[in-house]
Amino acid sequence: MVNFKKSNIFMHIMKVFKVGLLLNPVKDEDGKIDVRSYRDFYIAVETSGNNKGNIVEVGRADLSSQQKYADAEVIDLSKKVVTPGFVDAHAHLPQKRIMGTSSGVELLPWLNETTLPEEKRFTNLEYAAEVADETYKDAVSVGTTTMCLFGPPLYEATDVAFERAEPTGLRILMGMTLLDELSEDLFPEHQSLNQTIDHAVESTEELYRRWHGKAEGRLQVVPTPRFAVCCSMDLMKEVAKLAEKYELLIQTHLTENLGEIEAIKARFPDLKLYERVYQEAGLMHSKMIFAHVIHSTPEGQALLRKYGPGLVHCPISNEILLSGKMPVHEYRKQRMRIGLATDIGAGDTLSMQANIQKAVEFSRDLYDQAPSDTLDPRWQLDFKSGLYLATQGSADVLHLGDKIGTFKIGKQFDATVFDPEQLCGEEYDLKEPTQLLEKICTQRGKGVEQAYVAGNQVYSV
Ligand code: GUN
Ligand code: FE
Repeated sequence: MVNFKKSNIFMHIMKVFKVGLLLNPVKDEDGKIDVRSYRDFYIAVETSGNNKGNIVEVGRADLSSQQKYADAEVIDLSKKVVTPGFVDAHAHLPQKRIMGTSSGVELLPWLNETTLPEEKRFTNLEYAAEVADETYKDAVSVGTTTMCLFGPPLYEATDVAFERAEPTGLRILMGMTLLDELSEDLFPEHQSLNQTIDHAVESTEELYRRWHGKAEGRLQVVPTPRFAVCCSMDLMKEVAKLAEKYELLIQTHLTENLGEIEAIKARFPDLKLYERVYQEAGLMHSKMIFAHVIHSTPEGQALLRKYGPGLVHCPISNEILLSGKMPVHEYRKQRMRIGLATDIGAGDTLSMQANIQKAVEFSRDLYDQAPSDTLDPRWQLDFKSGLYLATQGSADVLHLGDKIGTFKIGKQFDATVFDPEQLCGEEYDLKEPTQLLEKICTQRGKGVEQAYVAGNQVYSV
C-alpha cells in the first residue's frame, strides 16, 4: 500500500532557492538585534496549495539536499547575497514626482506650496496610473517588496493606484488620504480638496470592498486620516469606527514638526497634547501606525507606551524637512514597535538602504551629542539593527511580522537579492558577511539584482 502520509513535503510543488550568503535579522527577548549569516544554504518554498509562497525548509545546500529536491525548480543564487525583502512602512504615492523638492522648507509651507498642488493633479486618472506604475517599478528596483502608502486624497485615483498595484506582485497597503479641514490660514487656495465626512468614510469603505485581501492577500486597505491638523474630530472618530468594524490598521502622522504641534494646540486647545487628540478620536491603539513621532513629550511617550501603536522612522524625510530626529534609542528601550520608511516625497529616494544609512548616522549623532554615558549603548542603531528596522521592524508595525520580515519556516519567501560584485567590485568575499552588510547599508539602492514576493520573482535587472 502506498503511504501518502509519509512525507507531505514531497507531494507539493516546490521551488528551491540556493543562496550564497543569506542575511537574516533576528531579535532576542531582551530586544538585542543580530543579523545571522548562512553560507551556501537552500530555502525550499511551496508553490501551490494553501501554503503557497511559504518557506517549508531551510538547510545547508549539499548533496543530500540536491537529491531530496531533485524534482524541484532550482533558482541559483549561489553567488548572491539575499536579505528579507525591504518593507517601506510609510510613503506618499502622489508625491512620487516631487521627491526631494522641499529642501530648506519646513512641513506646513511645503504641504501648502508643493504637495497639495501636486496631489490635486490626481484628478487626472491617466496621470494617477502613470505615477502609480512608476512608484511600484522604482520601489521594487531598489529591493522594496512591501509598501504602506498614503494614496491620493481622491477616491478614483486611489482606486486606480490599487488597480495598478494588483499585477505587480508586490504587497501594497494603502488608503485614500482623508482630510476635511484644510484651513484657509495654513492652506489658502486648497479648500477644494476638503472632503465631506460621508465621502471620506464611504470612499474608504468602497475601497475596502473592492481591494482588501485581493491579489492573494497582498493588497490591504488602510484608512488614512492625513493628520489632526486637517482632519476634524468627527472625521477621525468615524474613521476609527470604520477601522474597528473591519479590523483594519490606520495610518497617520504624529509630532513630526514643531509648527504642526502648534497648529494642533490651536485647533484642540482643551486637549493640549497631540497624542490626546488621537486618543480622544479613538485613534490610539495597537493597530495605529504613526509616522515620525519626533517631538513627543514624556507624557505623550507614556501614552504611546501604554497603547502600543507602531512607530515609523523616516530619517531622510526628517533631514530634508528640518523636522528633527526620532529618539529611536528611547523607543527601542521602551520596547516599542519601530519600522523604517522613505516618506517620499519629503524623502528624496525610494531606497530603504539609503534610509538605513541615514538612520544609523542620526543615531550616532544623537549619541555623540548627548552628555557622556547618559544614553545606553545597547539601543544605538548600527547596520544590523538598521536592517532589522527595514524588514522585520516595519513588518511588525504593519502587523505582518508573522508572515514576512525574516526567513523562517512558515513565513512567506519575500527576498531582496544583491549582486556582491555590484556592491564591492570584484574583490568581494561571501565569507565576509559584516563587510557585505556594511556595503548594503551605505550605497543608496545599489546592488539590487532581483526581488521575490511569496516565492515569485517580481524584479530582475
Ligand atoms: N503630514 C501631513 N501630511 C504630510 C505629508 O504629506 N508629508 C509629511 N512628511 N508629513 C505630513
Ligand atoms: Fe508622511
